[in-house]
Amino acid sequence: MSHTDRHLTVVTHPLVQHKLTLMRKSDTSTASFRQLLREISLLLAYEVTRDLPMTTTRIDTPMQPMDAPAIEGKKLALISILRAGNGLLDGILELIPSARVGFVGLYRDPETLKPVEYYFKVPKGLGERLTIAVDPMLATGNSSVAAIDMLKKAGAKDIIFLCLLAAPEGVARMKEAHPDVPIVTAALDEKLDDHGYIVPGLGDAGDRMFGTK
Ligand code: URA
Repeated sequence: MSHTDRHLTVVTHPLVQHKLTLMRKSDTSTASFRQLLREISLLLAYEVTRDLPMTTTRIDTPMQPMDAPAIEGKKLALISILRAGNGLLDGILELIPSARVGFVGLYRDPETLKPVEYYFKVPKGLGERLTIAVDPMLATGNSSVAAIDMLKKAGAKDIIFLCLLAAPEGVARMKEAHPDVPIVTAALDEKLDDHGYIVPGLGDAGDRMFGTK
């Protein structure tokens, strides 16, 4: 259940949309926000793995042997863009427990406003893996573009960017910098405000999931 062009897929499944509405509400508690994010991440993981290559494997059912469908074994790497990416990561790992996991940490230099790397640790052999980079909010796109730059420099070739909310500005920036990286999101919101927050949005995803602020 999705609307898609080649670069952007919006997951319109009713469960995703309903849960997202609950997450947006300003009176939703930290505990509920976290639980909803976990549930949505399972549903988004379903969508983002939709095109994994398939094969068959010979098995015995209690009735007879059969050639049964199975994922071909393309290795996966999940990359969390810190810190809010961790909220999406946990649910996806529940569905794909064998995936390798990496982390990218970036902060915004207060003077240049450019993203600066403070942590980078990714699995070996990124070039042979489907690499799913996760960050709930695609806002200006500056940190997402920088994170994808770093992943490509580390060898990643087959990358999908998974988020919860995207702003048109961030989608455009990603499309310009990384046209080969499809984006999967639960919603495309209206715009950014003057502080780079997505509106109508849900506020600061990290603060809401970790109860900081
Ligand atoms: N990051 C957030 O957490 N929220 C936004 O609206 C934009 C960036």
